[in-house]
Amino acid sequence: MASLPEGDPAPATGELPDSAAVDAQLRSMHAYVHIPFCRVRCGYCDFNTYTATELRGVTPSSFLDDLSLELELAKRVVRSAGLPERELSTVFFGGGTPTQLRAEELVNVLAKLRDGFGIAAGAEVTTEANPDNVDARYLQTLAAGGFTRVSIGMQSAVPEVLAILDRSHDRANVELAVHAAKDAGLQASVDLIYGAPGESIDQWKRSLDAALALGADHISAYSLIVEPGTKLARQIRSGELPEPNEDEQVEKYEIADAAFSAADFEWYEVSNWSRGASSRSAHNLAYWKSNDWWGFGPGAHSHIGGTRWWNVKHPATYAQKLLAGQSPALAREVLDERTRLFERVLLEVRISDGVSIDVVKALNPNASQPISQAIADGLVDAVEAIRGNLTLTLKGRLLADALVRDLLG
Ligand SMILES: C[S@@+](CC[C@H](N)C(=O)[O-])C[C@H]1O[C@@H](n2cnc3c(N)ncnc32)[C@H](O)[C@@H]1O
Ligand code: SF4
Repeated sequence: MASLPEGDPAPATGELPDSAAVDAQLRSMHAYVHIPFCRVRCGYCDFNTYTATELRGVTPSSFLDDLSLELELAKRVVRSAGLPERELSTVFFGGGTPTQLRAEELVNVLAKLRDGFGIAAGAEVTTEANPDNVDARYLQTLAAGGFTRVSIGMQSAVPEVLAILDRSHDRANVELAVHAAKDAGLQASVDLIYGAPGESIDQWKRSLDAALALGADHISAYSLIVEPGTKLARQIRSGELPEPNEDEQVEKYEIADAAFSAADFEWYEVSNWSRGASSRSAHNLAYWKSNDWWGFGPGAHSHIGGTRWWNVKHPATYAQKLLAGQSPALAREVLDERTRLFERVLLEVRISDGVSIDVVKALNPNASQPISQAIADGLVDAVEAIRGNLTLTLKGRLLADALVRDLLG
């Protein structure tokens, strides 16, 4: 499972440095809630999630009590840090599989966040969902309880690819879940993965067609990452499965972008497309624009005004810390100005609004040369660059990481 960064020790009280409150009125506040449960683990996934036998006595009910303790801690910490009162602009339940909990339980956690922080009018409230464990009643309960959006792990529409990915759902479950979400008045997003070992171009096109036929408002398409330590990594090492083909990954991205554009979806982040600006994920945009969020739950990351911290990973350790009256944070980093600017470039260059050239030049006063080169190479939009912004072209989206290295020298 992916390890966490090292960082500095985090205070047991959870308290924040004074710097966290500086200019806080200019940033919005958000909440992420990590639900660390999955019925089975998919072969490719190294998210911080646990199946029933790995939970060392933690149950959904004890976990919900632990979350409530972290919520009380968050209220105390935010109040004593001198932060202004800010209602939550978005809430996102991720995992793991949040829909392993009952819909009423998710609604109850949301109600506690509403009591504790307030939820802004028109806030986006999303949960990730596994197509296997949601139905019409489940989604109606979420909608009635204040959820506005559901993000469904579709991954592929092709049975052979779903089998290689170790997924337990089939295409019909996804259709039912998206249609039930729309009927309940929820926005629906689907996640796709491209580049599973052996996936052909034709199979990928079939998944794209199927995703577009669903009538979803938003699609995320992720290139498969072979995470060390996963069953998939072992299957590739032993020769049981072929390595993903990197050239084909590029081709699959281009095919996806063309298919989405033809269906009136626009890209707004390298891996994300939406039907118009109102269907973008406001929560993910808040991360990419370095706003403030509290990440509740084991392994969750938080960021407030340049202080970043992350919780202990195992739900049992998370419970022990909170029951002992301590913050569940494992470690933290207080970012200096330069690192904050660096992160802005890294994140903002990947969104369609782009990153301001002023920010790039604050880090690298000699950036004019690599910027001219990026325009000449067709990586960034020339007209936007004249307006002072670097926004990626299709070619630039495929080479975003290399471009950042060149820009920052
Ligand atoms: C927490 S899961 C979504 C909800 C639910 N657990 C599910 O899988 O249906 C978040 C998304 O991360 C993506 N993901 C997970 N592991 C990945 C990997 N190794 N490479 C690329 N995408 C990955 C999948 O698309 C997945 O839908
Ligand atoms: S992809 Fe989703 S369902 Fe599969 S193990 Fe990861 S978090 Fe669980």
